[in-house]
Amino acid sequence: MDNWAGLILAAGKGSRMKSNTPKVLHKILGQSLIQFPITALRETGITDINLVVSPDNKKPISATLDDSIKYTLQKEQKGTGDALVSYLQQCETVPKNLIIQNGDMPLISQGSIKDLIQTHSSEDNFITIVTLQDCTAGDFGRVIRNKEGLVTKIEEANESTIQSDQQTEVNAGIYCVNTKNVSEFTSELGSKHNGEQYITSLVELAYSKGLKVGFSKLKHRDEMLGVNDRLQLSQATAVMQKQIVEQLMLSGVTIINPNNVYIEPTVSIQQDATILQNSTLKGATKIGANAIIGPNTTIVNGNIGDNSVVESSTIKDSSIGIQCHVGPYSHLRENTEVKNNVHIGNNVELKNTVLESEIKAGHFCYLGDATIGKGTNIGAGTITCNYDGVNKHRTIIGENTFIGCDTMLVAPLIIGSNCLTGAGAVVTKDVPSGRRAIGVPAKITPNKDWKG
Ligand code: UD1
Ligand code: MG
Repeated sequence: MDNWAGLILAAGKGSRMKSNTPKVLHKILGQSLIQFPITALRETGITDINLVVSPDNKKPISATLDDSIKYTLQKEQKGTGDALVSYLQQCETVPKNLIIQNGDMPLISQGSIKDLIQTHSSEDNFITIVTLQDCTAGDFGRVIRNKEGLVTKIEEANESTIQSDQQTEVNAGIYCVNTKNVSEFTSELGSKHNGEQYITSLVELAYSKGLKVGFSKLKHRDEMLGVNDRLQLSQATAVMQKQIVEQLMLSGVTIINPNNVYIEPTVSIQQDATILQNSTLKGATKIGANAIIGPNTTIVNGNIGDNSVVESSTIKDSSIGIQCHVGPYSHLRENTEVKNNVHIGNNVELKNTVLESEIKAGHFCYLGDATIGKGTNIGAGTITCNYDGVNKHRTIIGENTFIGCDTMLVAPLIIGSNCLTGAGAVVTKDVPSGRRAIGVPAKITPNKDWKG
């Protein structure tokens, strides 16, 4: 797409959000609003993308985006027309065709942008706008046509006789302009009674000068949902969530109550998995085939293997193998890795811990900074005492060891394979394989007398 560039308007005050965070950094399903137009433009093949930002929001916005994005500083927020003027003044080489997109329209699809590009190119228009017919006018710009059906101007809500509750054709806030003569026009944009210049005035100017104004149709009505306040933020989120959940269900995932789950677009779920109510799946989470997640489960960047069950639990930055059971009420975090056929019952917290296959940790445990071998049983109330007040230390336990109820494992500590600790033992010294550790502090039996 040589000779094409994208300009995203994001300098507006966003005052209707009533927020200290710039409007376009508010999030929908884990991604900031500004990511959506950037992604949509990239999907249509446009790589030269420039963002109009304000002195206040440039730093926080640029901190969230990659280096390929360029910026135009709009010193004062004097309207969408002034945003375009700022770009034209600051841009070194203005491309022949410019797609201008509002930064607060996250649902605009690449399909609608492709149609806009196609119409603009094939009709060789000066400006092409995108419209939606039979829409409640609300705060949108109203598209005005002459008797021949040609678009003659866009009237903003505050200057139009078309009432907010009337059905009419509205402006979606994406435009394509041929930049050849646009600089001459921008000097004629004038300013409205509120002191702002509107980009939408370009349409009337172009028409009055006999230049071609074209239009393409928005692909889907939902795309019209812009985000100006928190209510619209939640409405746009609901639309996007519905799309994701429907796509998942059609791909073979059972979602018992689709209105009561939160699933980000970055999550992947395999066929025949079931997601139960009130479950939150975020980030790079992957759910395996036939897994059952929920109810009341939160998984952030978690990898859940096939046929595993996670019930009323929280999993962050951790993985679980196949055929495991977790929960209810357990918490796995910080690079915990659970292998296959593991049973983690209720109220078990695992942090930065590796559990090999076939381990059981059924009740009330804290296992932090630990590595535990295959087939080991962790009794109720076991705690790894991993923190000495200054540093964290590891606990390593071998295979097929039996950790008795209420054992305190004072790290750093190595317990071998086929060991046993007695109920209530406070283990302060390493236990060689096959030995028992009993008492407070635990005494270690001299001989291999436990399954050794
Ligand atoms: C705008 C359009 C309206 C259209 C609607 C679609 C104008 C005058 N009106 O109205 O016809 O139906 O979008 O959602 O364009 N911005 C700047 N600098 C400024 C002002 C705004 O960069 O000085 C940016 C904002 O950050 C925002 C975008 O431009 O991303 C649109 O501004 P906004 O104030 O939200 O315009 P709307 O009232 O939604
Ligand atoms: Mg808006």
